[in-house]
Amino acid sequence: MTNLIKQIIDDLLKPILEDFKDVPIWVKWGAIVMSCVALMILSLVFRARSEGVYSDKPRIHFIQNMDNQPKYVSQEPNALFNDGRGMRPKVSGSIARGEMIGDTHFFMGVVDEAWAVEFPPQVKVDQALLDRGRGRFNIYCSLCHGAVGIGDGIIHHRAQRLVETGVNGTTWVAPKNLHEEAIAAQPVGQLFNTITNGVRTMSGYASQIPAADRWAIISYIRALQLSQNADPAKVSGADALPREGSNQ
Ligand code: HEC
Repeated sequence: MTNLIKQIIDDLLKPILEDFKDVPIWVKWGAIVMSCVALMILSLVFRARSEGVYSDKPRIHFIQNMDNQPKYVSQEPNALFNDGRGMRPKVSGSIARGEMIGDTHFFMGVVDEAWAVEFPPQVKVDQALLDRGRGRFNIYCSLCHGAVGIGDGIIHHRAQRLVETGVNGTTWVAPKNLHEEAIAAQPVGQLFNTITNGVRTMSGYASQIPAADRWAIISYIRALQLSQNADPAKVSGADALPREGSNQ
């Protein structure tokens, strides 16, 4: 067996090695160097692709297709302007398209410099508006003011607990009961303003709730106020119902 292997090596490798002797030395060295460089490139690629290797350089990206272009990102300085800011403040008095507030009734709840008492003409108070308002109220308001608006939302309960246990010096102003006389008597324009700009410790919701939805919420608040102070005489068959506070 070993003889056979020796035979094969002698027959096949010997002639090749003989030939190799005649190859000029610079070709041999050239081949060695080239092989090393090829291995280095391969190992660099392998290293770059292995997990956990971090580089703050972007990936090599041969076909650009306008993927990367010079630009300013938020908060980046820009020497072009005197104040050095890349983010330009709004030109004062400018109004974005679609944010025209010439219609003070719809956008501010103000008519003739007083709170509007009626819904704006473009807001149709119907079942669809109430449904929309109910959805928006449950999303944006009920967490503090509670589902029926008496000010018992989950945030209120949680904050109250933190105040009682003295966590991190929490302070909390209770959300208002929307059925309180002083609030029930407020004109719709004032409610609109409260949602838009906030009031005392309550922040405004203008950036989250578009004007039309604020009106929808107000229609739903009105419905809640009506429901919590309903006149039993207006409900058919109310006589047959148990009275409030009774066990029957
Ligand atoms: C993060 C809790 C929170 C949310 C959410 C919230 N409110 Fe309030 N709201 C309050 C608090 C607190 C007050 C009482 C503010 C005060 O007296 O300092 C208040 C007060 C009010 C008042 C009484 C204003 C007045 O004139 O006294 C109205 C009306 C009102 N909220 C409506 C809303 C509506 C509508 C929404 C939903 C769009 C809403 N709130 C969402 C916390 C909240």
